Amino acid sequence: MKERTQLIEPDFSFYRVKNELTNELPNELTVDGIPLSKLVEKYGSPLYVYSGRAIRESYRRLSGALKGLPVQICYAMKANSNLHILKLLKELGAGCDLVSYGEWHRAEAVKIPRNRRVLSGVAKTAAELDALMNLPQAGVGSIHVESVMEFELIVLMANVKKRPLTVSFRYNPDVDAQTLDQISTGRKKDKFGLTREEILDLCVNFGDDDYVRIGGLSIHIGSQITKTAPYEKAFKALSHLCREVEFHLGRKLDSVDLGGGIGVSYVGEKTLSLGQYAALVKKYFSRYPKIVIEPGRSLVANAGVLVSEVVYSKVRKGSRMLILDAGMNDLIRPALYGAEHAIVPLDSAPDVREKSWDVVGGICESTDYFARGRKLAVEGLPGERLAFLSSGAYGFSMASTYNSRPRAAEVLVDRGKVKLIRRRETIAELLEPEAGVVARFS
Ligand code: LLP
Repeated sequence: MKERTQLIEPDFSFYRVKNELTNELPNELTVDGIPLSKLVEKYGSPLYVYSGRAIRESYRRLSGALKGLPVQICYAMKANSNLHILKLLKELGAGCDLVSYGEWHRAEAVKIPRNRRVLSGVAKTAAELDALMNLPQAGVGSIHVESVMEFELIVLMANVKKRPLTVSFRYNPDVDAQTLDQISTGRKKDKFGLTREEILDLCVNFGDDDYVRIGGLSIHIGSQITKTAPYEKAFKALSHLCREVEFHLGRKLDSVDLGGGIGVSYVGEKTLSLGQYAALVKKYFSRYPKIVIEPGRSLVANAGVLVSEVVYSKVRKGSRMLILDAGMNDLIRPALYGAEHAIVPLDSAPDVREKSWDVVGGICESTDYFARGRKLAVEGLPGERLAFLSSGAYGFSMASTYNSRPRAAEVLVDRGKVKLIRRRETIAELLEPEAGVVARFS
């Protein structure tokens, strides 16, 4: 069947593995030889399952493409911030890109070296900065400044506290990443970063301070970028601005940070070649002593699936509806961005015919659709299982407890071992922060 051959891609970790004796494809989706249905039976549904092998492979493929360049990969942990995934990536040599004090604590928990951390974010609060500035170098390698007011605050605080630290200016190059509108970040109208004029102004009027060193410039123009042209445009603008900044500072910059954004294939679409991406990095930035990149999705998306079970099915206005135990609270990308994920039955019998289904979750929202008119070989019976592929990035990390639904468990299959890396939340845990309030009113 077409769908089955599609699954057996070289960079894909969740296979139907051929039976060596019969040479037949079994009706089971597996990860590293372990049937996903076994994992659901043990850990319950819905369930996130990740492949350590797939994460290692994508990391090695990216670092291999950039070999010879002084690149530090700072994994954007917002894509998947489970501590066990962070530990795995740290062991491969990754630093991290952080966007909150909470993420900083995750980096601390798995001991990612502080000089391999960069801190981005448009709304770093004075309280967060204050806490960080009690540490040498603010507990990070570099703080990416996103507004003039933020820079002024950092300079003031560093001087009052007498704490040296390094910043870089996040540049908004006004480049369209040619991706979904909602995940574009490098156009003038987007809220991120500083304009060229603001950066040059800061260099001329402030320059380096006794405590705050301008270490470099950074960009991040968007996510799920599948073409090289936007990167080329942004890199060109960045390298030009770097030279202008160096002119005003009267010295070379220590580093450049090229952000993340490398796209992956969700439903067979073509994406960026890592070779071409690396060639662009080399073309524009090989003269810098340090090049940081901040990939998130490309390291973990295709290393994870969300498994869910059918609760009911019904027919509405001529279309068949598959109602699942997972909802937009577990995987919000389709409802939020209209994003597509391949959906594959875990263990459908070979004689089940493909039919067209609307796949929905149980949340009380009309947008809680995973797919419309999707061809699936399922019968619509309670307990049938499906996997949402490519859910390793922005899946669990964007999950919520909306409708007071506890978040799913997460399992990592690595080097032949199955590890529960986050147990399912309990309802008691959901209510706990309100317990004191309830007591006061009861
Ligand atoms: N660096 C910065 C400063 C970022 O804001 C992001 C992502 C990244 C790096 C990593 O980008 P990546 O390599 O993962 O594309 N929730 C959306 C994606 C939002 C990305 C936000 N920023 C989605 O599910 O498609």
